Amino acid sequence: MAATDGLLERALHPQDAEAVWPLSIEAGWNQTVADWRFMLESGHAIGVVEPGGRWVASALALPLGRRLFWLSMVLVTAARRRQGLGTGLLKHCLAYVESAGAAAGLDATELGRPVYLPLGFRDLYRISRWHIERPGPVVAPPDGIELRPMTAADDDRVAAFDTTRSALARGYILAHLRQRRPDLAWVAQRDGDVVGFVVGRDGRSATSLGPVVADNEAVALALASRAMSVASGPFLMDAPDSHREIARWLHDSGATAPRYFIRMLRGDLAGLEREDHIFALAGAELA
Ligand SMILES: CC(C)(COP(=O)(O)OP(=O)(O)OC[C@H]1O[C@@H](n2cnc3c(N)ncnc32)[C@H](O)[C@@H]1OP(=O)(O)O)[C@@H](O)C(=O)NCCC(=O)NCCS
Repeated sequence: MAATDGLLERALHPQDAEAVWPLSIEAGWNQTVADWRFMLESGHAIGVVEPGGRWVASALALPLGRRLFWLSMVLVTAARRRQGLGTGLLKHCLAYVESAGAAAGLDATELGRPVYLPLGFRDLYRISRWHIERPGPVVAPPDGIELRPMTAADDDRVAAFDTTRSALARGYILAHLRQRRPDLAWVAQRDGDVVGFVVGRDGRSATSLGPVVADNEAVALALASRAMSVASGPFLMDAPDSHREIARWLHDSGATAPRYFIRMLRGDLAGLEREDHIFALAGAELA
């Protein structure tokens, strides 16, 4: 589709991962080429490219089951902002989501939220992005709960546990993250039943820890602190603000939270408004 100024709106494919990566670097984001490739393989993505081949804008919709898409990597290079490019790409993604009869969710930055509000998104809850240079002490799990490394044999049970607590159908994302960084992937269990898990991945400037999903905050803290103790930092962790014990552990270990996101939803997805079992996101781009 033609756009103004010689710009072209074009589908983004996995082979574009390296060429589009500078957009997220410019924004100071943590994604690697491997993240871009995974998202471009998994989702419906579109971008705006200059005649010379430089990508100046992007947006994508990742399927999370049949009823929800996650919008992410909404980026416009600084010199091209406030010209409607972001809104145009979002409208394209939303038409795709609507044609599938699904709702759209996302984690909005401060810059993104004013673009999403007029498009029909509403706020759910606030999430802080924590920067962790040196993790605090390992916290033991509550009595009767054992932590062990996650394996491929856990994928189905972990995905089912996740969906009932987070309302997100993202088993393929969790399996991808487990394979990317097996050392960060742990399961908490009681009497053989899954009561929590953590996975993570390497990033451009820091190791990203999450999602952490658990039956309660004590289990979540044990999982997060264990995963961070076996890997090298610095770490990033996106934690909903309502979990005070984790925030205290992070704060006491010298972590800082200079940025935040707002989880937003357009349409309906029962349970997405609940953050009680979500202790860390997979990062704003992966839900
Ligand atoms: C967020 C972002 C993608 C917006 O892209 P954009 O192409 O500039 O957005 P648009 O031109 O479509 O803006 C549409 C409307 O949103 C609002 N808006 C956009 N940016 C805004 C800002 N910084 N402050 C206030 N309102 C803003 C305005 O109402 C604007 O319409 P107007 O220019 O006619 O007043 C871009 O700022 C960006 O890449 N930021 C860095 C990465 C980021 O935070 N992405 C969002 C991830 S959730």
